[in-house]
Amino acid sequence: MSKVRIGMIGTGGISHWHARQLTELGEAEIVAIADPSEVSRNHLVSKHGLQQAKQFADYKKMLEQEELDAVVICSPHTLHFQQVTDALNKGLHVLVEKPMTCTSAEAEKLIETAEKAGKVLQVSYQRHFQPDFMYIQSAIAQGLIGKLTSITASLYQNWKQATTGTWRQVPDLSGGGMLMDSGSHIVDVLLWTTGLTPVEVRTTMHQQGTPVEIDSFTSIRFAEGVIAGLNIVGYAPRWHETYVFCGEQGGIFYDNGKITVHRHGEEPVVPQLPEPTTNQDKSFIDAILGRHEVMVPGTFALKVVQLTEQIYQAAGYRP
Ligand SMILES: NC(=O)c1ccc[n+]([C@@H]2O[C@H](COP(=O)([O-])OP(=O)(O)OC[C@H]3O[C@@H](n4cnc5c(N)ncnc54)[C@H](O)[C@@H]3O)[C@@H](O)[C@H]2O)c1
Repeated sequence: MSKVRIGMIGTGGISHWHARQLTELGEAEIVAIADPSEVSRNHLVSKHGLQQAKQFADYKKMLEQEELDAVVICSPHTLHFQQVTDALNKGLHVLVEKPMTCTSAEAEKLIETAEKAGKVLQVSYQRHFQPDFMYIQSAIAQGLIGKLTSITASLYQNWKQATTGTWRQVPDLSGGGMLMDSGSHIVDVLLWTTGLTPVEVRTTMHQQGTPVEIDSFTSIRFAEGVIAGLNIVGYAPRWHETYVFCGEQGGIFYDNGKITVHRHGEEPVVPQLPEPTTNQDKSFIDAILGRHEVMVPGTFALKVVQLTEQIYQAAGYRP
């Protein structure tokens, strides 16, 4: 079969990662790119040898004029809904960056649109393809620490300082702050590695003098009887990502990529991690080609959007 023809919507920071992984594949070709910023488009072209790609300031023109099989969407958060809708309605497969949308009503509509179109809708949560998180997900599923009792998930980042003056602090584009942005990965890990269903949420939030949420502390009770603390701190000096999963037979401690398993009464163990076999872009292309199911489907990403929304509601926060 000929190469999967990709159009990219949004050619800023994260699009470079997708462009590199897609061009490495050989089975996909980036044939067009769309972004209102010419500087941003040209930077992507020169960095990844995409001189053959047609350039568009308006993604709608790209969808109208180019023969595409799929799009990869890397734009500000509140634009995702319309862009994904338009691409699916054009009969294209979609890989969209996180968060899928900023509201659960929009997320549900996208899932429906993708089903009607019969196209792949995948969301770019890359931790699903990383050995450390693959290990945690499968260790919990296999009962290594017994029935889960609690989880603490924390992300610290210099988010407030790094995003001042960008769309990330403009609520109409960002749909929220640190939780909607980087925090989305932590919500993803919390829900995906455990498969738990949140039923009760309490949150304290602080905007730290910005137009969006920056720091939030949330306690969650799950239908399965497990409780969790989710700490998202955007006014911090650096990135620090930690999780502690406690179960009836022990715990899994994750600290910035280092994992220790401590079963009750045993010495702590640093586990052997699985080999990575795919990534967000390769798995997208493989799903399009029918080689496997969509690995991070819209139906899962909806759960992240729902919990994010519940947290905002619990805090009385409206972006
Ligand atoms: N998975 C990850 O680890 C990760 C990391 C960073 C960003 N992201 C996500 O990727 C997306 C983009 O983030 P970024 O860091 O690349 O932002 P960025 O600011 O670097 O780039 C955003 C780009 O979108 C463009 N844009 C604005 N309006 C547009 C429109 N109407 N149509 C097309 N393009 C438009 C901007 O000109 C800019 O080039 C966000 O959803 C973000 O959350 C994910």
